[in-house]
Amino acid sequence: MRKIKIVGLGVGLPEKVLTNADLEKIVDTTDEWIIERTGIKERRIVDANTATSDLVITATKEALKQANLKASDLDTIIVGTSTPDTLFPATACWVQKGLGISGQAAFDVSAGCCGFLYALEIATNLVAGGISKKVLVVGAEILSKITNYQDRATCVLFGDGAGAFIVVPTDEDRGIISSNWGADGNLAELLYQPAGGSRIPSTCESVEKKLHTVHMAGNEVFKNAVREMETATLTALQDAKMTAEDIDLFISHQANTRIIEATIKRAKIPWEKTYMTIHKYGNISAASIPVALHDAYHEGRIKDGTKILFAAFGAGFTWAASILKW
Ligand code: ACO
Repeated sequence: MRKIKIVGLGVGLPEKVLTNADLEKIVDTTDEWIIERTGIKERRIVDANTATSDLVITATKEALKQANLKASDLDTIIVGTSTPDTLFPATACWVQKGLGISGQAAFDVSAGCCGFLYALEIATNLVAGGISKKVLVVGAEILSKITNYQDRATCVLFGDGAGAFIVVPTDEDRGIISSNWGADGNLAELLYQPAGGSRIPSTCESVEKKLHTVHMAGNEVFKNAVREMETATLTALQDAKMTAEDIDLFISHQANTRIIEATIKRAKIPWEKTYMTIHKYGNISAASIPVALHDAYHEGRIKDGTKILFAAFGAGFTWAASILKW
């Protein structure tokens, strides 16, 4: 086991709620279709002035308070995001500016919906290797600003939010028991934001064609998500020499209730151990796991020794799973 302890948790969630009924007024869709095909009832959406780092700062302040630490105590900041404030510098650097701190290593991890689990894997190894002692690990997204609200196949799915962990070393019997991660860039074009980078820079034409928004082959993404989330989950259990019976809580990326149902069926994880937030936040990509863990913690679902299985799948394609003993 790589020994780490999570001493602080926080979230940054916009106040504005976008319901399925609101979406019915924007595109040709229905509350019934969205709930039946995805499980989503509503999602949170930022206002025009809010950037990803603003949500991260709110989440970080809550996490620091719980950890009884000051922002300047942090030595490393890692933000998992696909919707950074700017392509450069990293959102993690804007977070430093917002918190009024400097000197820490600060960088972003771009791994789609796996951004948080990738960031946690890096943080775990930095802490276990003795390189970092107080790491801020974040998953954060503002997907509403890269969503095409004329495309009913994507605009019903996404929301905004941030979730933060503070990770420190420990001698206690807790930490990451097993983890795996992977990617297949050959399938990148099934889920991507075509413009805004060096392949298709932002131009009036690219914006007119909405190439700066999420482009997704939903059905193909769905099939790959089911397959890779299952494999990553089963691999994490196998590497830990565990079965679903040994797990207390399953917190997966929240993209679609049907993807999660398929995963737990194959891994034989009972529904009662499966924590769901998709109905209230939609798909918040890298933020979905830390936000869900925060909510589960405050509902009393997590105590000393609780074994939590995480799994995610996202753009890249990327996948990851890990088992944490709290
Ligand atoms: N309202 C009503 N009808 C819709 C909507 C909508 N919002 N969106 C699509 N439809 C229609 C389609 O036009 C299609 O109509 P047609 O048969 O007349 O052509 C029909 O519904 C079925 O479309 P499908 O795309 O086959 O529907 P599916 O059951 O696959 O559900 C969905 C679509 C929800 C996007 C699903 O494929 C999915 O969840 N895929 C995973 C993608 C995902 O979650 N991506 C997020 C990022 S990656 C990640 O986090 C895993």
